[in-house]
Amino acid sequence: MRLLLYRSDGNTAPWVRDFQALLPALDVVVWDQASPCPPCDYALVWGPPAALLAQLAGVKAIFVAGAGVDALLKFGDALPSVPIVRLGDAGMGVQMAEYVLHAVLRYFRRFDDYESQARDGVWAPLALPSKSDFAIGVMGTGALGAQVLAALAPFGFPLRGWSRRAKTIDGVAMYAGSAQLGDFLAASRVLVCMLPLTPATHHLLDRAMLEQLPRGAYVINVARGALLAEPDLLTLIRSGHLAGATLDVFRNEPLPAPHPFWGEPRIAITPHIAALTVRADSVRQIVGKIAALERGEAIADVVDRTLGY
Ligand code: NAP
Ligand code: GLV
Repeated sequence: MRLLLYRSDGNTAPWVRDFQALLPALDVVVWDQASPCPPCDYALVWGPPAALLAQLAGVKAIFVAGAGVDALLKFGDALPSVPIVRLGDAGMGVQMAEYVLHAVLRYFRRFDDYESQARDGVWAPLALPSKSDFAIGVMGTGALGAQVLAALAPFGFPLRGWSRRAKTIDGVAMYAGSAQLGDFLAASRVLVCMLPLTPATHHLLDRAMLEQLPRGAYVINVARGALLAEPDLLTLIRSGHLAGATLDVFRNEPLPAPHPFWGEPRIAITPHIAALTVRADSVRQIVGKIAALERGEAIADVVDRTLGY
């Protein structure tokens, strides 16, 4: 059995080593763009270029080495009609929880204000907002969003969740679909974006949506940059409607040097590290799924191409 491996960062050697350790019968072929691959049974890709498509003929499934599949699905009908399988958590949920918890507490406990006071040599305790006025709204309550909500639960913030389909999560006021989006936004002092990037969510967070957040709201985007209309976010921060944002993802990555976000102190920037792929967990998950597919069994985390996630 042969697996085609492609990673846009070129960091393939440890992946090959981990696959060989777990499934010695699997022949892992790294596609280096220079020469064609021999026929492969499966493919594992991250950041695929269009030229990869020609190498995928005959594969039984394409695995993506991450949770988001937008970079693969953008090739649309040029992709072979085989299952596309994303990672299901695989060690990313706990990282997302750490990241979002840090950002929420930084705003609630006003550590951002204390950082700025300290730079000016100011010693002055600040009043805290009331927790009941500090509701946290998580857009996207899937594999990762649900873990973020669970991690926030012990802190006593009012919790809100928004998803495509109606569902219940204990202790969380749930909203679903575009009909309930306005109510969800109006009830969220902190908006955490954990949605996949799909045709339905592209630029969803534009000025009209962000203006529905209460005055003084914060935005945390750990999903994909193109969910957010970046100039609209900046306008609303500068107008004072939004108090600040923590952004891990951007329309163009790396965030270009002259981008106005760099100079805006109310925007905290991280370089797409909210939840990194954990190689050992991922390899274990993919090997398990390949074994299940070989036995003819159904597997989890198969992407719905029509929905885009
Ligand atoms: P997931 O399990 O597929 O969950 C997606 C959630 O979004 C589901 O709750 C889904 O609703 C909801 N959703 C999708 N389309 C929607 C729509 N049109 N309207 C309302 N809700 C919608 O995804 P995940 O594993 O939690 O990952 C989420 C995203 O995080 C990934 O797609 C990726 O882009 C991003 N990510 C970023 C990093 C990073 O380091 N920054 C790391 C990993 C992942 P239903 O529950 O109704 O299906
Ligand atoms: C990272 O951004 C992922 O989608 O896994």
